[in-house]
Amino acid sequence: MKVEGLSYRSIWFDQKVNQVKIIDQRWLPHRFDTVSLLSLKDFQVAIRDMWVRGAPLIGATAAYGIAIQMKKNPSDSSLEEAWHLLYATRPTAINLKWALDRCKTKLLPLPECDRSTAAMELAHKICDEDVEINRLIGYYGLDIIKDIAKKKNGKGPVRILTHCNAGWLATVDWGTATSPMYHAFDAGIDIHVWVDETRPRNQGSLTSWELGNHGIPHQYIVDNAGGHLMQHGLVDLVITGTDRTTAAGDVCNKIGTYLKALAANDNSIPFYVALPSSTIDWTINNGILEIPIEERSEDEVLRITGKTLKGDLETIQVSPSGTKAGNPAFDVTPSRLVTGLITERGVSSASKKGLEKLFPEFIRG
Ligand code: MRU
Repeated sequence: MKVEGLSYRSIWFDQKVNQVKIIDQRWLPHRFDTVSLLSLKDFQVAIRDMWVRGAPLIGATAAYGIAIQMKKNPSDSSLEEAWHLLYATRPTAINLKWALDRCKTKLLPLPECDRSTAAMELAHKICDEDVEINRLIGYYGLDIIKDIAKKKNGKGPVRILTHCNAGWLATVDWGTATSPMYHAFDAGIDIHVWVDETRPRNQGSLTSWELGNHGIPHQYIVDNAGGHLMQHGLVDLVITGTDRTTAAGDVCNKIGTYLKALAANDNSIPFYVALPSSTIDWTINNGILEIPIEERSEDEVLRITGKTLKGDLETIQVSPSGTKAGNPAFDVTPSRLVTGLITERGVSSASKKGLEKLFPEFIRG
């Protein structure tokens, strides 16, 4: 996607300097910075401390982390150690394990002398595939928006609510939940996006930044506004992303997604979740019982970072000194609240049957 007229992916290999580069998302939307990741440690820190974030991008970054380590030391034990160190960075998004396992499966049978090149090629491939997959999610999701626009018959824009940032910054490009929005806007459909702020990390500000760069009309709202807007007929559709989807169609996404699904259900508003198949954990069925929910630092809740009126970035405390905070980063929306899953192979019901129909190769014996 474009930033000030230049095309960017969220992660890329810079041939000129032979380095992996990322957009350092810690400073967005206030400051656009890119940074090189040079060592396995850099990759660990970038994922753990959310310089990069979003399930598909975490997976792609981990693949480059393995490649950097293979260049330094291509032995079996080094591969195993890198797998474990990267796997430990964040617990919820399954794309991390998906990418690490894919690297291991490809590299272990190879002679050590071939591993560095093969690992780098695989990391590039994972990124290119992610871009194409997200483009396809947009292609299939576009039909959902088109149908609603048709029903509205010119009576105002299709109003889409989204939570967190499942945009191009959370993937390599396009985004998952945002890809249908980009496709619809580019096809000339009148859309308006309600962007949930998504406390405590305010990923909604990343979504607003993205949509603003593309000229898509949107409004930034506090997390508690969605239910009210739905009750008053101001939301036509909800689309979110997911960090892990079970084989039975439960979706685990940023904290607060479940409440949006409940409100959408109560108001008969379609609630879709967009995802690449790398986000499906085929080994589990019950998201509430089986998905590990990341508990992040209480500092994220007690403090907030933003731009002062003078333009400086500053962190301030928002709660009384000494207050304890809880910070679960994700929640699970049961499949019964999900209207459909938008994937790279089409739209499926949020069910085992629906997913297996689209992805028959994953059916277990
Ligand atoms: O904690 P984050 O910012 O990594 O969480 C990101 C999300 O919850 C996204 O909605 C999810 O990864 C889907 S991204 C396409």
